[in-house]
Amino acid sequence: MTSSINRREFLQITTGLSLAGLLPFNAYGQQKSLPVRSIPSTNEPLPVLGLGSTKAVLQIPQSGTQPLLQVIQQLVEAGGRVIDTAPRPEPIDREFGLVLQDARWRDILFVSAKINSPGKQAGIDQLQQTKRLFGRQILDLLQVESMVDLDTHWSSLQAAKSNGDARYIGVTVANTADHDRLAAFMRQAIPDFIQVNYSVAEPQAGAQVLPLAAELGIAVQINRPFMNGEYFQKTRGRELPEWAAEFDCTSWAQFSLKFILAHPAVTCVLTETTNAEHMSDNLQAAFGRLPDAGMQTRMQSLIEDM
Ligand SMILES: NC(=O)c1ccc[n+]([C@@H]2O[C@H](COP(=O)([O-])OP(=O)(O)OC[C@H]3O[C@@H](n4cnc5c(N)ncnc54)[C@H](OP(=O)(O)O)[C@@H]3O)[C@@H](O)[C@H]2O)c1
Repeated sequence: MTSSINRREFLQITTGLSLAGLLPFNAYGQQKSLPVRSIPSTNEPLPVLGLGSTKAVLQIPQSGTQPLLQVIQQLVEAGGRVIDTAPRPEPIDREFGLVLQDARWRDILFVSAKINSPGKQAGIDQLQQTKRLFGRQILDLLQVESMVDLDTHWSSLQAAKSNGDARYIGVTVANTADHDRLAAFMRQAIPDFIQVNYSVAEPQAGAQVLPLAAELGIAVQINRPFMNGEYFQKTRGRELPEWAAEFDCTSWAQFSLKFILAHPAVTCVLTETTNAEHMSDNLQAAFGRLPDAGMQTRMQSLIEDM
């Protein structure tokens, strides 16, 4: 949290919001807030599901900010607060910044930002522009996107952390071909966070990167839970297997999200959506049972055979 609100004030805000009636229900019909997991380096709790904002932000010129406002409202009402961002053209990020500064959630959001331009000064300029357009003196998490010019940018991120511009620093990848390079960097630098692609349809990070993150005490955000939508082309027209009920799964979206959340090294999964009903579906994945190792193997085989 970037502001000084305390836990009681935070709970008052979220409890008030839950009166809107959108908080998911648990198996006993009681309203429950999103589960949290600890960031290993500080033990700070983070809700297990966040918003990947790419699509909704890039659509601002065509669709305005209403879809974004709706999915963030839904996330916050469920007790979520993680929003992943990346630098976009200035007019778009100015509009997005106003959304992030909405008084309903400005003080509770955990905003992760990135730099993605090669060159030391270009990266520093991106950091300063993001802080200015998002109206935030302190970014919760600052990452080098897709390890672009990582050797150059890492010292800037370390400086951003020590001078208070960012609370946590890390790197992202979204391509399995980059996992070896990511693992080497994790061993060398031990960042606070990594962001990596992992899902029931793209499970390779489970072999090396996720166990390494657990061993080194690195927090993990997951991207591409639905392979940017490609996963739904595989599952389209197919019935969920009956055994999905054994881990409280009622949709194909939850099928992948529950597979992801079943990995103990995962701190938070980012789901990208412009659709409030989809956000509600995705939030539901954080509640109820998760698949065990045997079930995960079965889930992976089912998707591989599609
Ligand atoms: N290198 C990097 O750092 C990097 C790269 C890729 C991604 N990321 C991060 O990860 C986030 C998510 O990853 P992604 O781009 O791979 O997207 P994704 O979450 O795998 O897939 C998004 C797509 O799934 C659809 N969708 C979402 N929930 C759904 C549901 N319940 N039912 C049906 N369709 C659903 C969305 O459409 P609707 O809008 O219709 O819901 C959208 O088209 C990004 O926003 C970004 O924050 C980072």
